[in-house]
Amino acid sequence: MSEHQHSPLRGKIALVTGGSNGIGAATVRALAGAGATVVIGYHQSLERAQALCRELPGAHHALRIGLEDQASHAAAAQWLAQTFDQVDILVNSAGFTQRIAHADTDTLDPDLFNSILCANVGGTYAVTRALLPLLRRSDSAVVVNLSSVSAFTGLGSNLAYCAAKAGLDTLTMSMARAFAPVRFLCVSPASVDTDFVGGRSRAELEKKAAQTPLGRVVVPDDVAQAVLACATHLRTATGARIVIDGGHSL
Ligand SMILES: NC(=O)c1ccc[n+]([C@@H]2O[C@H](COP(=O)([O-])OP(=O)(O)OC[C@H]3O[C@@H](n4cnc5c(N)ncnc54)[C@H](OP(=O)(O)O)[C@@H]3O)[C@@H](O)[C@H]2O)c1
Repeated sequence: MSEHQHSPLRGKIALVTGGSNGIGAATVRALAGAGATVVIGYHQSLERAQALCRELPGAHHALRIGLEDQASHAAAAQWLAQTFDQVDILVNSAGFTQRIAHADTDTLDPDLFNSILCANVGGTYAVTRALLPLLRRSDSAVVVNLSSVSAFTGLGSNLAYCAAKAGLDTLTMSMARAFAPVRFLCVSPASVDTDFVGGRSRAELEKKAAQTPLGRVVVPDDVAQAVLACATHLRTATGARIVIDGGHSL
């Protein structure tokens, strides 16, 4: 096997927001395994991000990036510019939700709606905006947004989360047009076995998975491999959505 086949991302700089847990952490492992230098964006979990850093082959870094914290986006852009001069891969995996029945509009009051919507889509926009000058210095830049089948099924942990992911899908298309040759893609899972939805049990995930064509629970590495493929193989795909759901949404 040639060096390129073994380490197709050697020399590439990747930032993964939400890299301290779940899908983001699996993506960090996949990108580092393919030879990239990875910056792990964390929010509350500094220790988990540092432990992940130590576990990876090669030298990697951890940076605090809060979705609602624009100063952290500017600081990250400045640090990346000074340290690497460019960014080749941005994976926007940071996000949060709460489980609220769609008919329960008492709990999802307008303030909570706006905070979930703005952080998940507006925060992702703000991070991307801050890093665009560095992405444009790369000759192979790609931005991968972790979206969800909620964007087009309208089913998901709450109304605002579904709206946020629909917004993210549209933003991905618009930015793909506006900022080519930087490529923008969505990777869109249904339920993935992580801590993302508080109170969701493994038994619940297995029950749901049993009703899908592939019949198995989607795990973080399944999603990470799709993100990796966006960087390594999908060279002419932009503005598109890659659905990773075992056929759940069929
Ligand atoms: N799991 C699923 O079923 C599923 C399905 C479809 C789509 N997704 C999408 O996949 C992405 C990753 O989800 P996951 O399952 O990996 O969730 P997770 O295991 O809960 O991890 C969430 C990550 O986001 C970070 N984060 C949370 N709130 C943040 C904030 N306000 N600012 C910055 N970072 C923040 C966390 O950082 P700290 O731990 O450092 O605080 C953590 O690294 C999300 O965008 C989610 O919408 C997930």
